Amino acid sequence: MTDILLNTSSCKSVIHCGEGAFSKYALLLGGQKFVVTDGNVYAIYGKLIEEYFNGCGLYVLPAGEKSKTFFYLADILGAMAEAGLKRSGTVIAFGGGVVGDIAGLAASLYMRGVNAVQIPTTLLSQVDSSVGGKTAVDFKNIKNLVGAFYQPSEVIVDLMFLKTLPPREIRCGLGEIIKYAALDKSIFSKLLKEYDIFNLDFLGSIVPACIRHKARVVSADERDVNGMRKTLNLGHTTGHAAELYYRRKSHGEFVLIGMYYEMYIAEKLKIGDGEYYARLRQLIERAVKIPAYADIEKAAEFAKMDKKNTDESISLIVPMREGESTELKLSFDEYVRLLKEVNQ
Ligand code: NAD
Ligand code: GLY
Repeated sequence: MTDILLNTSSCKSVIHCGEGAFSKYALLLGGQKFVVTDGNVYAIYGKLIEEYFNGCGLYVLPAGEKSKTFFYLADILGAMAEAGLKRSGTVIAFGGGVVGDIAGLAASLYMRGVNAVQIPTTLLSQVDSSVGGKTAVDFKNIKNLVGAFYQPSEVIVDLMFLKTLPPREIRCGLGEIIKYAALDKSIFSKLLKEYDIFNLDFLGSIVPACIRHKARVVSADERDVNGMRKTLNLGHTTGHAAELYYRRKSHGEFVLIGMYYEMYIAEKLKIGDGEYYARLRQLIERAVKIPAYADIEKAAEFAKMDKKNTDESISLIVPMREGESTELKLSFDEYVRLLKEVNQ
């Protein structure tokens, strides 16, 4: 078991990580509690929630991204008020990234902010979304358009929850883990040595390593303003665009697809180390099948919506060599031309 600290100018979070973290730390959460979870998670862990948070307020969200809306945000806030949640109470997000994002935002709004604790139950939420305080709902068909930075006081990451996770959700988490490998030398070499899609024991050391990386980055750039936090979006521009193009929700898999395409673009532009790209590509190909686009212009259009774009250009965060990445800014026409070359 390991404790990782996230230290920003405005607050501190502690991330308890390891097998057994839930039974050890959940019972220590004092005061009035309000748990937000989703229907799938409640079906599996409802008894555990009742056992550990006996008498707490509870909101069970329909599972899936479609619930990350103002409607459900307002409904959760209403349920908190009806349960009589006090300013001194704690909102516990018990579930994947959808639950974490909406419950975190509700905690930031209720009585202008109550204590929030994240208990992530998917691989993606354990290595990424529960850490760093980004909370949001989707609005006007745009992902995470409305949200707040709101750090949880604690994150409890217990790998036992991954045992009930469907294989596809494991693949989504692996997408983010391979992204960390492209950003962090030590995760890259660990993954090259230990990665085995059929035996997930390696996650025991990889998950804390990813969290440590993210906590370091967020501690240095909580508000995403000095360029450091932006690196966590490696592969995401083309990945998000592909996710919209294929109309399939599978964030982590598309991050890998985005990385794959963007590395080829970087290679075409003679940026970075080709041998390194080949090794990263092998990791990606072991986790996901890379599709070819039928309509590249249409796929590229979606990249225009990326939040990293500050002007007309398309911003890509690409790996260069071990532990190093850079931002590429391409005109839309150049981006389309390069995507076409890659897609041949
Ligand atoms: P999710 O929350 O939809 O969970 C995926 C599925 O797994 C759901 O059907 C859920 O019910 C189920 N599930 C969760 N835990 C389970 C368990 N232990 N056993 C069995 N089933 C379980 O999706 P996600 O991939 O965890 O998160 C995606 C969301 O995270 C997106 O909305 C994305 O925008 C957001 N996100 C946020 C950040 C951030 O920094 N805040 C970062 C990355 C992604
Ligand atoms: N997932 C990207 C970030 O937290 O900034």
